[in-house]
Amino acid sequence: MPDFDMVLFGGTGDLARRKLLPSLFDAHHAGLLHPAARILATGSQPLSTADYLASLEQTVRPGLAHAPPESWDKFCARIVYVQADARVPAHFDALAEQVLARKPEVVVCYLATAPHLFVSICEQLARTGLNTRQAPNVRIVLEKPLGHDLESNEAINSAVAKFFAEEQIYRIDHYLGKESVQNLMAIRFGNALFEPLWRREWVQDVQITIAEELGVETRGDFYDRTGALRDMVQNHLLQLLCMVAMEPPASLSEDAIRDEKIKILKALKPITPQDVAEKTVRGQYRSGAIGGKPVPGYLEEAGIAPDSRTETFVAIKAEIANWRWEGVPFYLRTGKRMQSRVAEIVIHFRDVPHAIFPRPLTLSPQNRLVIQLQPEESIRLYCLVKQPGDTLELTPTSLDLDFANSFKVRRAGAYERLLLDVIRGRLGLFVRRDEQVQAWRWVEPIIDTWDASTVPPKPYTAGTWGPAASSALMSRDGGLWHEEA
Ligand code: BG6
Repeated sequence: MPDFDMVLFGGTGDLARRKLLPSLFDAHHAGLLHPAARILATGSQPLSTADYLASLEQTVRPGLAHAPPESWDKFCARIVYVQADARVPAHFDALAEQVLARKPEVVVCYLATAPHLFVSICEQLARTGLNTRQAPNVRIVLEKPLGHDLESNEAINSAVAKFFAEEQIYRIDHYLGKESVQNLMAIRFGNALFEPLWRREWVQDVQITIAEELGVETRGDFYDRTGALRDMVQNHLLQLLCMVAMEPPASLSEDAIRDEKIKILKALKPITPQDVAEKTVRGQYRSGAIGGKPVPGYLEEAGIAPDSRTETFVAIKAEIANWRWEGVPFYLRTGKRMQSRVAEIVIHFRDVPHAIFPRPLTLSPQNRLVIQLQPEESIRLYCLVKQPGDTLELTPTSLDLDFANSFKVRRAGAYERLLLDVIRGRLGLFVRRDEQVQAWRWVEPIIDTWDASTVPPKPYTAGTWGPAASSALMSRDGGLWHEEA
């Protein structure tokens, strides 16, 4: 692992505290970081490093129950706080001086700030020479959401491209760092068994669900301007769809994989304003209960406009116009305050062409490959077997691969894996500019049609699987969401 300095813009923010610093700690604790590597956390406040570390003690440390004190102390010794207000050039002069004086092999600038600051931060980095690829080798990480629509996404990307080459830019989508997503590639392309079945002749439909129990937490203001389509579908769900649907790449090289993903995004059938009512569902949660505890409705949450029409739930029937997938619906669904936290991809295979056995009496999952990303990572193949005894009835069972039990090794979390990839210079699990553009192109007509519509989002009770219209979207095609089967 190369020696690096990681400059964390937004070092006092929510993402740094909840995900980035804990992930860096885990990598440190596992002995994966170069001994000299440093984290330069920045913020607009004039804090000392001691003040900053004291705040981490309160906010980050309690979440790291597994952290022995000496390991935490050594991790803290890597951290320096640097004031960097994007409007103050002198702050950036001092920052660059700190980095250039040490000359680590790699410099990672992680932009975990509000996106409207991205351009001015990049300008400052370039002005102070922190954008060169030679010495030091600088990489820039851009957090989502990158823009609010295609136009603002292009504006940010073009501005950043003035100062950084595409190979220096790591657009992060943390879903691509999840172990099961990479396992999906291993299952598909490492075994001869599945690939022949992975096509329209054998697949009935594909379902991709990311359901959360959480509501908008402390991010009401951001979320109300964003909504589930921009927050989850434009990025995480479409990236998962690409991983399921792409053709086998020629190699594992970064562009080989990204070239295949962009082909899928380009092959997505456009959802026209006329299609929106039939192929999409948008919902908004009302008060209900999660885990037996009452929770408020979306409109009662802090930071939410009382007449907000922002969606907290989306379901979409997507279709891919190519030889492999013509006619196979890809149902996408995501929501806050749903019945349980689950992220999964379900490949639903067709029934046998001619049934010689009586059908099982109960509706049950069968002919399905379920790749679960959360809460546990597992792959489960549901199939029918003979009911034991003197009968020819079939009953469902599953072949299970449960990663936690099968492999008793530590598995890196999504952010940790991606941060290590940036440090090592591996771009394969990051999103290329053209992918982002294409994903915005596909979602934008849906957003525009919803904005122009007089029909509000469909209400659903917190703690359920979303509005009834979501089940109707499937049942119109004769299908059921996996948890209903
Ligand atoms: C983020 C979204 O990208 O992903 C959040 O902005 C969401 O709204 C989160 O809660 C979900 O990530 P995970 O890994 O917890 O499923």
